Amino acid sequence: MNVHPGTAKPVEDPMLPLTYEVVGIKKELPDTVTLDLRAPNGMPFEFEPGQFNMLYAFGVGEIPISISGDTSDPMQLVHTIRVVGKVSQAFAKLKEGDSIGVRGPYGVGWPVNNIKGSDVVIVGGGLGLAPLRPAIYSVLANRGQFGNVVILYGARTPNDLLFEEQLHEWRGRFDLHLDVIVDRAEAGWPGRVGVVTQLIDNAVFDPEETAAFVCGPEIMMRYAVQALADRGVDTKNVYVSMERNMHCALGFCGHCQFGGTFVCRDGPVFAYDTISELFTTREA
Ligand SMILES: Cc1cc2nc3c(=O)[nH]c(=O)nc-3n(C[C@H](O)[C@H](O)[C@H](O)COP(=O)(O)OP(=O)(O)OC[C@H]3O[C@@H](n4cnc5c(N)ncnc54)[C@H](O)[C@@H]3O)c2cc1C
Ligand code: FES
Repeated sequence: MNVHPGTAKPVEDPMLPLTYEVVGIKKELPDTVTLDLRAPNGMPFEFEPGQFNMLYAFGVGEIPISISGDTSDPMQLVHTIRVVGKVSQAFAKLKEGDSIGVRGPYGVGWPVNNIKGSDVVIVGGGLGLAPLRPAIYSVLANRGQFGNVVILYGARTPNDLLFEEQLHEWRGRFDLHLDVIVDRAEAGWPGRVGVVTQLIDNAVFDPEETAAFVCGPEIMMRYAVQALADRGVDTKNVYVSMERNMHCALGFCGHCQFGGTFVCRDGPVFAYDTISELFTTREA
C-alpha cells in the first residue's frame, strides 16, 4: 500500500487525490488568488520549500501548483494560483467551504538545509515569488544559520506586486535586504524602474560564499543566472525552478521528461549547471 506523502495517510492509488476543504481565499491580484486548504480530519501536511502539489478541480482537471505557505505550519496548506486557463479559472471561482482534490507533495525543492553558512540571494520575478516564499520563511526562521540574506523582486507594474503585506514586513527587518523593482512605474511609485537582474549588480553578498534561488519566467531566470555569474557566483550554487507540463507527477508518464531527467521527480528545483540545456528547449 502506498502512503500519501504529505499526510502519511495510506492511499490505494498514488494518482488518487484526497479531498481538501477551502478554508480561506485571498485575492492577491486581479488574476491571482491564494487558497488556504484544510486536510481531511485536520491532518497536518508536511512538505519541503519548493515542492508542489497536483490540485484537482472536480470535473475540470488537474494542474501542478507550488506550495506557497510555511513549512513550520503544517496545518495550513497554501497555494497561490494565477488564472491562465480552464483549471486555474475554476480555482479562482471557489468559495470557502468548497472542496478540491490534492495529491502530493512532489518533487525536489530549494536546498535550504544544504546552504547553511552561505549568503542567500533570492531572486523572484512576478508569480515566481510564490514558490520562493516557503524558502524565505525557512531561511528567516533559522536566520542565524545564514550570512547576508538578500531578496530581489521584480514585477511588471506596482499593481502586479505579490504579497505586498509581506514585502512591507520584510522591508522593515534589519537582518535582510529587500529590493523591489518594476518594469513600468505608475504615478506615485517611489521605487526603482527596470528589470530585476539590475538589482543583482549592487546587492551586498560575497559571491564566493553565496547560494542563489531564482524563480520566474524562464527568460528572467536566464538573465538572472547570467547576472549572478557576472558577479562571480558559481552557477553550481544557483538553483532555479522549472515549470513543465505534467500529468502523473510521479516519474511514470514521461510527460515532463527531458533526456534522463524528469522535472516532476528530479525537480522542479535544479542546480542551474545540471539543467542549463533545458533553458534552450521548448516544450513539445
Ligand atoms: C512544478 C510546477 C509548479 C507550478 N506552480 C505554480 C504556482 O505556484 N502558481 C501558478 O499559478 N501556476 C503554477 N504552475 C503553472 C500551472 O501549472 C499552469 O498555469 C496550469 O497548468 C495552467 O492550467 P490551466 O488549465 O489553467 O490552463 P491551460 O488551459 O492548460 O492553459 C491556458 C493557456 O495558458 C498557457 N499556460 C499554461 N501553463 C502556463 C504557464 N505555466 N505559464 C504561462 N502560460 C501557461 C497555455 O499555453 C495556454 O495558452 C506550476 C507549474 C509547474 C510545472
Ligand atoms: S509528469 Fe509524468 S513523468 Fe513527470
